[in-house]
Amino acid sequence: MTRSQPDLFRTQAEACGHLGSPMYAELLAALADDVEAGGPTARVLRGHEDDPGPSGLALRLAGSIHRLVLAGEADELTGFYPTTGGSWSAAGVGAVIGFLERRGDDVRPLLYQAPQTNEVGRSAALLGGLLTLASTWERPVRLFEIGSSGGLNLQADRFRFSDDMGGGWGDVASPVHLEAAWTGARLPVDARLEVVERGGSDIAPVDVTTDHGRLTLTSYVWPDMATRHARLAGAIELARTHPVTVEQADAATYVDGLALVPGTVTVLWHSVMWQYVPREQQERVIARLETLGEQAPDDAVLVHLFAEPTRRSTDQEHRFWVCAETWPGAGERAYLGLMAPHGVPVTWE
Ligand SMILES: C[S@@+](CC[C@H](N)C(=O)[O-])C[C@H]1O[C@@H](n2cnc3c(N)ncnc32)[C@H](O)[C@@H]1O
Repeated sequence: MTRSQPDLFRTQAEACGHLGSPMYAELLAALADDVEAGGPTARVLRGHEDDPGPSGLALRLAGSIHRLVLAGEADELTGFYPTTGGSWSAAGVGAVIGFLERRGDDVRPLLYQAPQTNEVGRSAALLGGLLTLASTWERPVRLFEIGSSGGLNLQADRFRFSDDMGGGWGDVASPVHLEAAWTGARLPVDARLEVVERGGSDIAPVDVTTDHGRLTLTSYVWPDMATRHARLAGAIELARTHPVTVEQADAATYVDGLALVPGTVTVLWHSVMWQYVPREQQERVIARLETLGEQAPDDAVLVHLFAEPTRRSTDQEHRFWVCAETWPGAGERAYLGLMAPHGVPVTWE
């Protein structure tokens, strides 16, 4: 059964509240009321009554408005958006609804863009997992990613990570600093980690070297989450200095093209993308990794490292586990830690 728009907006409002955005918690709940009252929000969303829940209609609407604010095309809202120097207050609700009333025609076409995010915080899980494994082999790393979005997490070895004990890893002068990123078991922060090759892929890559790409990724980060915005801006800065190609390819096609190299560790990593990959592609990815692992030349290592909603056992709920499967070996899955939805903190096992 299709859930009503107000219902979807209220669920999203609650999620935003739990995940650290009081602004969107208040705004999306108010927009749900406006839809029910047949106000401007209902008119803007006309035609989307049967959109499936996972298409994220509330986030598409919020992101579309934010995009116009960031682009300097919604002067009446800048004072309410922290990303344009404003500060959110309850009066923002009326301002947004008034904006939808006047500018609905500018918002409607933007609703067709799927929310596109690249969560830099998730590098805490990916890089931390890699550090754990790198200490086992201490060999050059070839790093590849599926569902890379803008490829920002392929810059992870250029970020600074701090743990909750005052320790850390990475360049202290990095424009990306993930504070209190790691808790639980200590990571081998002295392990040598040298990335000698890197590449990404996505069915809908975002080119962060363009203003359009930067605007796309920025508009879907909730405006009152300053830390996420700072990480994103820092990672885009790094990606512009050290560009990494993100090929347009589905996950299975990209992994089909991977090969191993003797004397190196080849890593395929991914975060919060597997649920969008059709089952047939998932099976191809898994089969290809098993074939690569079984036929690995001497002295080549293959690692499949991911931070995805996973059940540790059938009686447990899906949680954001950080997992690794490695070859040589049976490719048996190791559960390394638990990640928060936006990445930080990661609690290591
Ligand atoms: C929620 S985003 C996560 C992006 C990034 N991995 C992160 O954690 O920030 C999911 C990404 O998966 C990509 N995606 C969806 N289906 C895919 C597929 N079949 N093959 C490759 N990428 C896919 C989307 O385009 C999107 O960039």
